[in-house]
Amino acid sequence: MPSPARFLALAALFVSARAALVPPGHQGSPNQPVDVSEADAPTTDSNAIVQTLGQVDQKSSPPHDAPPSADVPPTTVTAIDGSLTNATVSTVAGSSSDTTPSTRKRRNLGRLGKRTSGFKKVFDGLPAGQHDASIQGTAYLTYTVVPNSTYNVQACLDWCTQRVDGCVFVNLFYEYNNYLLDFVFSEKSNLKCAAYGDVHNATEKLNFGGQSSYPQVGSEPVPLTYITQSSGYAADSLVDPDTPDGYDLVFGPTGGANNAPGYMGFAFLDKYDVNACAQLCNGRGVDPLGGGCSYFNIWRAVVKGVPTTYSCAMYYLVADESTAVNYGQGDLVVTMSRGYARKNLVIDGGFEGYTACDDFCFTESYSNWIGTSSKGGSLDASIFHFQPYAHFGSGVALLGAAFGDDSLSGTLTPAKPLATDKGANYVVQVFFISSFSSQALEGPAKVDILWNGKRVGGTSGFVGSYTFSQSDTVVGTGKDVLSFVGGAAPAWTFVDDVKVFKV
Ligand SMILES: *[C@@H]1O[C@H](CO)[C@@H](O)[C@H](O)[C@H]1NC(C)=O
Ligand SMILES: *[C@@H]1O[C@H](CO)[C@@H](O)[C@H](O)[C@H]1NC(C)=O
Ligand SMILES: *[C@@H]1O[C@H](CO)[C@@H](O)[C@H](O)[C@H]1NC(C)=O
Repeated sequence: MPSPARFLALAALFVSARAALVPPGHQGSPNQPVDVSEADAPTTDSNAIVQTLGQVDQKSSPPHDAPPSADVPPTTVTAIDGSLTNATVSTVAGSSSDTTPSTRKRRNLGRLGKRTSGFKKVFDGLPAGQHDASIQGTAYLTYTVVPNSTYNVQACLDWCTQRVDGCVFVNLFYEYNNYLLDFVFSEKSNLKCAAYGDVHNATEKLNFGGQSSYPQVGSEPVPLTYITQSSGYAADSLVDPDTPDGYDLVFGPTGGANNAPGYMGFAFLDKYDVNACAQLCNGRGVDPLGGGCSYFNIWRAVVKGVPTTYSCAMYYLVADESTAVNYGQGDLVVTMSRGYARKNLVIDGGFEGYTACDDFCFTESYSNWIGTSSKGGSLDASIFHFQPYAHFGSGVALLGAAFGDDSLSGTLTPAKPLATDKGANYVVQVFFISSFSSQALEGPAKVDILWNGKRVGGTSGFVGSYTFSQSDTVVGTGKDVLSFVGGAAPAWTFVDDVKVFKV
């Protein structure tokens, strides 16, 4: 409890602050200016991406000691924000389950693409007697052995197309002096068929074998593994990957990576997996200025003509092809660049569709949002076009009587119910600020986020700068009513950049 003297002082302060206060409806100045702007949003850090590219090595061949026909492992993150790593996407994204389990073989997991018609030879093996080399390349998936009574190209292609999701290229070769192939594995074949999720060419024949696999007997030298007749076949046409659930394709494929604002960081993936990149975006966490990840750009890095990694860059602002102008530098060429925006179920969540004036105006409702006052209240929920009040852009909503005429709460709701997928999970993301009047007067500020009338989040008390807030996870019914309820002038709260994302 404040002492009586202090209480009087506070009360005097309250009265004088209130007397001097020009409410938002009269274009009053906020007690503390709102100093956010899209111009402060960082852009893509291409230097960090290029520097990490020089360090990453994610090229491989079938290991000489791995059994054939193993499941394709889940997509791996090989670098995150400039540090090399070796972690599954779900570990990095913090989600409880992989969306790309290797057991769901028959689904197109949205990687590079898949074959539609047939395969074409990319390169021949060397003649039978000569030592050759297998591909050491990116996006290695798994391998099998095929019957070696003949050079069995068809069996290899059939396995790739029918059994290995995302397989667009195979490398077929004999491996000699491999004790496991010769004596241990049941297939009794040394004709290896390696599946890849990207297309490689003969310049990448870099694995010459040379491992000792046979047991040492006495002082006899152990024969080393070697490779012959290494040929490559690639899908003759690639289809676009399926768009990840909860996203829209914005552009691509093109040869330009985004150089766009709202950059949140990047990851390298071991294959071109748009679902993995979406999962990383969903799990990216929150930027205090810009909020959650709303957009990603995935592209293949080709260095000196050789696929090297698959970059996934994340953004809190939605970009498009106009900023996809980074074509590479030096030996690096950007290929297969695609942009995907996270679907926001809220139409015009930034209130930018209200443009009834150039500078300052406000309204109770417009085509995308409806404000409703309490009984006997006036303008208890309203939408403003006024850049100094807004988070990003110029549109923003206000809860609490715009002219300060009453201290009743208002309700702000999208003009149409949200077209959610029935049974799917969503979160509401929003920025609030409650500091227009003063710290003392904003003390009682309170806004609830309601999902079909049930409270799922909100803000309360003085909030000095635009602050990100996320609701509990909610379940879609196919037709959901989102609303923001609160405000009690002079404890006003501004609401901006409302998003409802699938999780
Ligand atoms: C990454 O980790 C897996 C599992 O621990 C391991 O099998 C694999 O060899 C590692 N890869 C690299 C490139 O370190
Ligand atoms: C087929 O593979 C088996 C097991 O490695 C090997 O013993 C055999 O010699 C191979 N046959 C031919 C024709 O290469
Ligand atoms: C194979 O790689 C080389 C090396 O960069 C490149 O010059 C060539 O164009 C590639 N060939 C094909 C068919 O892609």
